[in-house]
Amino acid sequence: MESLRWWQRAVFYQIYPRSFADGNGDGIGDFVGMAARLDYLRELGVDALWLSPHYPSPFLDCGYDITDYTGVAPEYGTLDDFAAFLREAHARGLRVILDLVLNHSSDQHPWFVESRAGRDSPKRDWYVWRDPAPGGGPPNNWTSIFGGPAWTLDPATGQYYYHAFLKEQPDLNWRSPALKAAMWDAARFWLDLGVDGFRLDAIATIFEDPELRDHDLDLDMDALVDVNTLTPEQYERLMGRQSKQPGLHELMRELRALVDAYPGDRVLVGEDDDLTFHGSGEDELHLVFNFPLMRARRLTPGHVRANQALRLAALPAGAWPCNTLGNHDSPRVWSRYGDGAHDAALARLHLALLLTLKGTPFLYYGEEIGMADLQLGALEQVRDMAALHRYARLVGRGGVAPEAATRITLATTRDRCRGPMQWGAGPNAGFSPPGVATWLPVHPNAQAGVSVAAQAGDPGSLLGFYRRMLALRRATPALVAGDYEDLPEAGQGCLAFLRRGAGQACLVALSFAADAQALDLGPVGGRARLRFASAGRAEGGLVEGELALGPFEVVVAELG
Ligand code: NOJ
Repeated sequence: MESLRWWQRAVFYQIYPRSFADGNGDGIGDFVGMAARLDYLRELGVDALWLSPHYPSPFLDCGYDITDYTGVAPEYGTLDDFAAFLREAHARGLRVILDLVLNHSSDQHPWFVESRAGRDSPKRDWYVWRDPAPGGGPPNNWTSIFGGPAWTLDPATGQYYYHAFLKEQPDLNWRSPALKAAMWDAARFWLDLGVDGFRLDAIATIFEDPELRDHDLDLDMDALVDVNTLTPEQYERLMGRQSKQPGLHELMRELRALVDAYPGDRVLVGEDDDLTFHGSGEDELHLVFNFPLMRARRLTPGHVRANQALRLAALPAGAWPCNTLGNHDSPRVWSRYGDGAHDAALARLHLALLLTLKGTPFLYYGEEIGMADLQLGALEQVRDMAALHRYARLVGRGGVAPEAATRITLATTRDRCRGPMQWGAGPNAGFSPPGVATWLPVHPNAQAGVSVAAQAGDPGSLLGFYRRMLALRRATPALVAGDYEDLPEAGQGCLAFLRRGAGQACLVALSFAADAQALDLGPVGGRARLRFASAGRAEGGLVEGELALGPFEVVVAELG
């Protein structure tokens, strides 16, 4: 256990700065607000925080469109506020990693403004500019991940610039040594201030095919509304030349060397599920997310088993797994895994899974109180530009009626998982003062028990369960350091596995069924001592022969 590094032992908690706590009463979260909630996070029992982008931004992609890589968005405070937050977090033993957005900047970044000023601008090659195709039109048929063409014409200079995401997010050209140096300086700026590492945004798309060869997916691209609706094979054919290009692993190694030059074991977490980003296990990224686990619409024991078998076997020696079930791009855990009848039990079950699988877990703010997806009432409330572009495509090329397109957009916009944190009951849920218009509406269920204040004093609440589970993990070395060993005899409705290591062997049994399940303890020696159960069994009790599990019950027991 001691031989593990801090980021292998840690539980991370993702904060969306705009939505966590509003310290100055303007309806937008900020560093003063976040700093005031650090005690809450320490008491919750997490070890490290990942902040979604906190940089100045026109906010068309909710902060992932940056105009200054070494600044703080004025609505979040000043650099001093940031430094105070970091100091206070560290004083409480909480590490902090930042979001490093390498692939693109905002089109309002001074670098891009200078780059687009003329073909002979010294920063022209900091972005990806190309002449039109011989007969006119974009240089090739590439697509933006947010839909529509990946090229936008700059009429003044007669060239197109490339953007893997919004047209307001031009791709940086990492083949320019000057650009690379400027970005590494930005990374050093935050490392010098003492941050503990970075989550690396959209790494796959950093380089494009230098020959700009067309994709060969035979599809009516004009009619394609959302690239996420493609099969994995289609997606690969569409995006293959826009992602995972040569040069990427060398770049990750460079960044790793840069980070490793700092004391304190700073960490790099890639926003990708490709295990090759671990490199040799020591020379590229420390962690990459197990997104295939998160992407299943519903998790079943079979899913988890297959996922673990595949991922753990493919992990390079020396690399460490990393699991998550929610983030700012995906539906909330409560809404995704809930079935309407057993929502609370399912939320507990999924947390238990995340905290007992092998690997570093990432939680998403508000999960711990069961925050649900927001249901926005009107398009005017949508803040995520990608969703509005999709709406336009639905109505335009998709031929969908505006009312239906509105319904689809409101039901799918990423805004729905980015709502203000619910601290208390009452107006604005304690996120902002009463009467203030918050940047996204507060979910009405804040008045119905979905708040920190409503749950904090109740050990039987979801928040109480999160605290107990996090404390259990902290106190049980095998759950952190142990190997994962599937117990296939658990059957269809139940997932059971052993975590063996650090001088301990723990049995984890998770029922995914709404009816009673029984687990034969024969294969693990016939008996186990109870460490934790969701159903109020007496801790320390001995279970012999067979473990009977109630609906969606979670049991952790120690063998031997
Ligand atoms: C991935 C981020 O998680 C997402 O929110 C963003 O829109 C894209 N990268 C582009 O930066």
